[in-house]
Amino acid sequence: MNVFLDTANAEEIAKGVATGCVRGVTTNPTIISRENKSLEECIADIVAIDPELTVLIEAVSPGRDALVAEAMELAKLAENAVIKLPMNIDGLAAANVLSSENVRTTITLVFSLNQAIVASCAGANFVAPFVGRLDDINADGLALVRSMKQVFRDHAVETKIIAASLRTPQSVAELFAAGADVVTMPGTILEKMLHHPLTEAGLRKFDDDWKKVPERKV
Ligand code: E4P
Repeated sequence: MNVFLDTANAEEIAKGVATGCVRGVTTNPTIISRENKSLEECIADIVAIDPELTVLIEAVSPGRDALVAEAMELAKLAENAVIKLPMNIDGLAAANVLSSENVRTTITLVFSLNQAIVASCAGANFVAPFVGRLDDINADGLALVRSMKQVFRDHAVETKIIAASLRTPQSVAELFAAGADVVTMPGTILEKMLHHPLTEAGLRKFDDDWKKVPERKV
């Protein structure tokens, strides 16, 4: 069960990593475009926070061979890089080539069980169902993850499920319960996961009561 952060913001990542529960970071072109620095600078800043983080970096070149060449370069940016490839014929073909080059891959923008099946058959290490984008169009992202898990388990498939595109903290627990191996989320969702009104009320009560305890006599 792994929690990743879905951001390239160094401050947000450092804050999450400090909790000890973040094992990786996912990026995409949109996420990188928010940081006002190059992709290479973004990844260098992430690696500087914790070199052991798994870092998902998206390849965007057109065509299989260009994707493979780009992926080989991107893989050098982080010790534990995983290259995101598009869910199309070139992305699958690139995953197939990269699986024999020891470059780990994720097929991204997965919205159906059939897409997840072909991605795993192509040799992708991860598939990334975009749960929130399905929910946005009144489809069922959680049901997709549940069925992916069942098929992967029934057929002893090693490809891991990285549930992405989260909208609510509640969906994190539901996705892990449905069998997601990784859930990636913005820092705001991780922060909300920590809170419960009863925890906060309990802590306030302990603080108040502690003030009533007499000091040790010397
Ligand atoms: C991460 O791998 C995905 O690219 C990301 O979760 C997409 O999130 P969005 O649907 O909020 O853009």
